[in-house]
Amino acid sequence: MEVIGGPASHSLAIKIAKRLNVKYVKANVHIFADGESKITISHKPRGKVIVVNSTYPPTDSNLIHTFSIIDKAKKSASSIVAIIPYLGYLRQDIAFLPGEVVTSKVIAESFSAVGTSQIITIDAHSEIALSYFKIPTKNVSAINKLAQYCKKLNLENPLVAAADFFWSANAKKFADILSTDSIAINKQRDPNTGKLHIISPKMTDLKGRDVIIVDDMISTGMSIINATHLLKRQNCGKIYVCCSHGLLVNDAKRRIKNAGVEKIICTNTIPSTNSIVDVSDLLASAALSF
Ligand code: R5P
Repeated sequence: MEVIGGPASHSLAIKIAKRLNVKYVKANVHIFADGESKITISHKPRGKVIVVNSTYPPTDSNLIHTFSIIDKAKKSASSIVAIIPYLGYLRQDIAFLPGEVVTSKVIAESFSAVGTSQIITIDAHSEIALSYFKIPTKNVSAINKLAQYCKKLNLENPLVAAADFFWSANAKKFADILSTDSIAINKQRDPNTGKLHIISPKMTDLKGRDVIIVDDMISTGMSIINATHLLKRQNCGKIYVCCSHGLLVNDAKRRIKNAGVEKIICTNTIPSTNSIVDVSDLLASAALSF
């Protein structure tokens, strides 16, 4: 067995290889002046090969790199386990408007086409999107790890708030680990404009209570900012944000902080200064059990 780390996930791939006690190989990328890229793997991988590469922005480039690595490795390996810590495009799981392409389906078919045997990811956004994969998939939850991190923060009578209703079961799991309660904010997005409409949940007295807002991912930060404003109006205590995938595009981090969030805590599926919860152990054991 060996681990090949793609350009988007070198440090996480090294950690996974160390945990599995197997050889680590770095896939090198060269970007040409016109933006095209060329991947090189300096040897012929043999046996079961684990390819690790996240598909955060630039998402399309990172996808092409991932497909190229798998395609090359498959030529000499017996099987390819693709660990895609953050698997992009899963929000595009159905056609919301006539004529829309369901891109997650295209991605799923492409993974099969290049010869992927199995896929492992963390907190995939949509079960519908995962159902498009015709190869075995493992969707690992980071909720326990994120909650354990928050346990150490000594928060004041914490409340867990899902930034989106679909994440409410995970907010409840999170709250159970902290022996507290949870709420879920109902968010609706206009399919034409992308504008968010927030429906406030029934809230008990939040005065002085610290709140942990949880979600699967932060992209522009708007969902978190809206949730923060809503909770602040209830005179809550400090606000913390916990998510699996911190895309934090553009100046999302600054705007979230300006909205009054104390700390943004993400896993290391996407490298950044906020990626403080390591999920390499979860990914390594998922790879072993395939
Ligand atoms: C949406 O359904 C997701 O779970 C996230 O809440 C969303 O993608 C976050 O996006 P943004 O940070 O742009 O509001």
